[in-house]
Amino acid sequence: MKIHNAVALVTGANRGLGRAYAQALLQAGAKVYAAARDPSTIDLPGAQPVRLDITQPGQAAALAADLKDVTLVINNAGIALPGPYLSGQGAADAARAQLETNFFGTLAVSQAFAPVLKANGGGALVNMLSVLSWITLPAIAGYSASKAAAWALTNGLRHELRAQGTLVVGVHAAYIDTDMARHVTGPKTTPAEVARQVLLAIEQGQEEVLADELSRQVKAGLAAGAYLREA
Ligand SMILES: NC(=O)c1ccc[n+]([C@@H]2O[C@H](COP(=O)([O-])OP(=O)(O)OC[C@H]3O[C@@H](n4cnc5c(N)ncnc54)[C@H](OP(=O)(O)O)[C@@H]3O)[C@@H](O)[C@H]2O)c1
Repeated sequence: MKIHNAVALVTGANRGLGRAYAQALLQAGAKVYAAARDPSTIDLPGAQPVRLDITQPGQAAALAADLKDVTLVINNAGIALPGPYLSGQGAADAARAQLETNFFGTLAVSQAFAPVLKANGGGALVNMLSVLSWITLPAIAGYSASKAAAWALTNGLRHELRAQGTLVVGVHAAYIDTDMARHVTGPKTTPAEVARQVLLAIEQGQEEVLADELSRQVKAGLAAGAYLREA
């Protein structure tokens, strides 16, 4: 699909990668609904701020009833909480919270907007995943579980939405230069570069984006057991 004149909903659009998606979409001539838990934090001229906490039951459905012209959904909002699996009750709570946002929140937005995309001819749905959908970092173990679940969700949605002509794009990235990775000193991809690759993939009808060299290496190494080694 063309980005020019598309009507996009971007979740978590107030900062980080979501803001970069919204900015790139506006620059390419799309109409943008910039969703945030606090819409007053949206600072992009031209974007239409809307309120959405993806974990709040019913909020996504209520928004979909309002935004009937959406043709592109970017499920970007996410959280990352530190801690290994064997660190006690806190680890289970953290895993549950990350699944609530990264899996169930993404599912709620997808369920709410799938009929809107269908009514508007199919369009596209993008899910922001990670290289950690495939390998686990003990320092943020529960995050990997939530992004693995979101990858499985993405693959299932792709099958379910194919009949209505909706392109489903899974985006895998290692570190991106946002608040989420501010503690990281190694290489990071800029949010603008990730957004550029994703908009290109949408225009070209590609179902997967591997945004950096590490993501490409890890995917290529899966058959050889890349997930068996500690990253
Ligand atoms: N940064 C990385 O290294 C990296 C790598 C691979 C994948 N990702 C993924 O990329 C996406 C964007 O992350 P980022 O790097 O931009 O992180 P970020 O800077 O921490 O921003 C996260 C965004 O998600 C929003 N959000 C969190 N929970 C939400 C909820 N329940 N409802 C609505 N919005 C919510 C935040 O809103 P508030 O301002 O209200 O908190 C914020 O806008 C995430 O899915 C993340 O997992 C990031």
